[in-house]
Amino acid sequence: MKFNLEVYLNLSADANLAQNVLNEFFNNEANIIIQKGAPAGHGAKIIEYNVNKNIIKLVIESDQYVRAHDALLRLRKPLASIMGKEFKIGIRQINIEKFTIEIESEKPVNNKIPYVKNISFKDGIIKLELDAGTSGTLGQSELENRIPDRIINLIEEKLEDYGGKSEHWELLWESAPKSFNFDKDPTKEMMKEGWIKRGYNRGQWIYGPEATHLFRTFEKIVLKEVIEPLGYSEMIFPKLVPWEVWMKSGHAQGVYPEIYYVCPPKTRDPEYWEEVIDHYKVSQEIPLEIIKDKIDLPIGGMCYAQCPSFWGFLNKTTLPTDELPIKVFDRSGTSHRYESGGIHGIERVDEFHRIELVWLGSKEQTLEQAEKLKARYKFIFEEILEIQWRKAWVTPWFMAQEGKSGLADMEGAGTVDYEAIMPYNDNWIEIQNLSVNAEKYTKGFNVKSQNQEPLWSGCSGVGLERWASAFISQHGLNPENWPEKFKKYFGEMPKGIQTL
Ligand code: SER
Ligand code: ZN
Repeated sequence: MKFNLEVYLNLSADANLAQNVLNEFFNNEANIIIQKGAPAGHGAKIIEYNVNKNIIKLVIESDQYVRAHDALLRLRKPLASIMGKEFKIGIRQINIEKFTIEIESEKPVNNKIPYVKNISFKDGIIKLELDAGTSGTLGQSELENRIPDRIINLIEEKLEDYGGKSEHWELLWESAPKSFNFDKDPTKEMMKEGWIKRGYNRGQWIYGPEATHLFRTFEKIVLKEVIEPLGYSEMIFPKLVPWEVWMKSGHAQGVYPEIYYVCPPKTRDPEYWEEVIDHYKVSQEIPLEIIKDKIDLPIGGMCYAQCPSFWGFLNKTTLPTDELPIKVFDRSGTSHRYESGGIHGIERVDEFHRIELVWLGSKEQTLEQAEKLKARYKFIFEEILEIQWRKAWVTPWFMAQEGKSGLADMEGAGTVDYEAIMPYNDNWIEIQNLSVNAEKYTKGFNVKSQNQEPLWSGCSGVGLERWASAFISQHGLNPENWPEKFKKYFGEMPKGIQTL
């Protein structure tokens, strides 16, 4: 890696009188300062410097050991001190004239990178010209905020991604094979029986009394078999998620293609909206172009992962050690994902229903709770739903949702996906997950434990549409063919809505 930085330091007064002292500084001490900590022969070098009235010009070149912009920041204080003491001269401003970074690579990066005005690739070198100079966007505060380092991280991430690291998937356990008496598409069959109908939005369904009762039965099973015995308390998590939450949860790093964005009106003044109202009255069409101008930028999106909103409750708090582990759950609303287009059944929807469990405590408590949940889930799938299912160790959900692949490098942390087979097409679908999130969320939302030990958390999302797809595809719609224990939980089939 090679850096070349050209800057002009604007001084509060003419520095010609300080010329000798500055020569001495730049020829000796400065070089020591900007090579400190680097292996011998490495670090930054001042390759050009001159003083002209109240401007010092500096050109710094470096490798990755002391990056040129770090070198500049290192020089600022000692320089201010020698000029201030003897000559009462201060540094008013640092103007970056030019900043180029060269990175060795076997392939180019063709993306538009923020703060980069030009990016080229030649002879195994990616050359970035940062957008500096009078009209540029890269200034002193961007250097202080480590923007160049983040640009390099981004480039390295992109170069790695091209290597095709895929999502991790590793079988952990599978149930004994079963023979099925049903081999139809659950969605189609439920539609035929009038249990469900398509909603007006893509990937949205309207669940009739029978399907709703099925969902409520799943909830009842989770309540009776998991939540009550393990002592989880119900909470209500918000379902509109502002950017701030996603910045802390990590979703801001990659969730954009799948969000349903939420835009508030620019004002709620009825007069401001009169044009839209009148337009609709006359044309009977929604004037989308006019609305587009009258709504504000998105303030965030609709609930996506369910648990991030919980953390606002604990943001910047310290928890009494003897209150741990904390165990809560939410089933207060829908989650939304902009899924791939095309026709899907209820196993792939844009609007879905999920029970989300969240727990937090010490590392040991968090891992122990995960094991307890796994045992309860196993009991449900084996003894109540009697489905064929399996578990896999996968890329942690929070990494996947940030657009990353691979595994977390936190001992014991990660996601287990639960999958079930749909006999009609032999596809395995994810029906729920369970994750130990290590300090990802407690750190992201600044939550601490009174005893100062690392605070871990876990979460588990039980997808009701997915449970329904698995259960119906393996057992069919006729309650007579359902497993005994499930039938008890289900009770009477409610009367559906008949249409002519
Ligand atoms: N929050 C987790 C997820 O979105 C579990 O539901 O996958
Ligand atoms: Zn979660």
